[in-house]
Amino acid sequence: MVKISLKTLKNRAKKEIEKAKDLKRLNEIFNKYLGKKGELTKILRSLEKLPKTKRMKVGKTANELKNFLKTEFEKKTQVIKKKIGKATEEVEWLDITAPGKKPLIGSLHPLTLVKRKIEEIFQSMGFSVVEGPEMENEWYNFDALNIPKEHPARDRWDTFYLKNGLLLRTHTSPVQVRYMEKNNPPLRIIVPGTVFRHEATDASHEFQHYQIEGLMVDKKNSVANLKAIVGEFFRRFFEKNVEFRLKPDYFPFTEPSFDIGISCLVCNGKGCPACKGSGWMEVAGAGMVHPNVFKNSKLIPKDWQGWAFGFGLERLAMLKYKINDIRLFRSGDLRFLKQF
Ligand code: PHE
Repeated sequence: MVKISLKTLKNRAKKEIEKAKDLKRLNEIFNKYLGKKGELTKILRSLEKLPKTKRMKVGKTANELKNFLKTEFEKKTQVIKKKIGKATEEVEWLDITAPGKKPLIGSLHPLTLVKRKIEEIFQSMGFSVVEGPEMENEWYNFDALNIPKEHPARDRWDTFYLKNGLLLRTHTSPVQVRYMEKNNPPLRIIVPGTVFRHEATDASHEFQHYQIEGLMVDKKNSVANLKAIVGEFFRRFFEKNVEFRLKPDYFPFTEPSFDIGISCLVCNGKGCPACKGSGWMEVAGAGMVHPNVFKNSKLIPKDWQGWAFGFGLERLAMLKYKINDIRLFRSGDLRFLKQF
């Protein structure tokens, strides 16, 4: 009787184990047969009631069955675990040998590069970097620089007048006065900054651009000093010897005044469309500080000699990197910006 039941029990259990889909179900089946109150456990316990010979024979089969089922459970557990592992592996698959994704790294804007380079060069020659407001008043932008109201020179620096009575500065020269009011000479400064002009935009004009003002004031200071400093700046900025010249010009705040031109970098001074055939390119305005500017800065003109210059930063960048359109700088075009 027990023998038959052991055989059917074995088949039944085997089938159930085979069918089990997950560990929970497998555990239920285990308890059903081998748990404390499991069917096989009960049979094993009842063995003691049997006569000795029978007990030994049935006992052996029952124990074999027990071991058999245990291995079956063990095998099935492994199969299910493997399946689960594979499933999660498929979801969380990670190829640790794949090359990493490079994050997009931006680069500095060409104008920033040029500005930093210029600052570095002048700082190494003892100049301090100073800044001033972009929203300026009429006094500093014009009057203090010897450009009175109704003076025709104001047309050259037409600007945007703001509702608050201020204007957008047209050059960095107002900072000359602002700085000299507060600092006694001898002094050497450069003033990088944005300036604005009421001007139509074309390949070489923008209504907004960058300037670098330079100012050096001392007891004895001359055009020769200006030429020496500017020449050294060109050499270091363009990393080669460049010829340059001072051409007479007019600015109300300097006397005498000059246009600084460098020998055209495109044709090496022979004459080409870029320099309109002249062989020279104008890059800055300059001159000796006008006595009225000293006066307006609360300095006694006869005590001091100074020179000033104003470079267009875009111009310098265009020459250094051979850029042919000023509008590219503020176009936001990545094909342009990625080259720097
Ligand atoms: N501020 C002048 C301009 O914007 C340039 C300049 C600066 C000229 C200093 C002379 C001295 O055109």
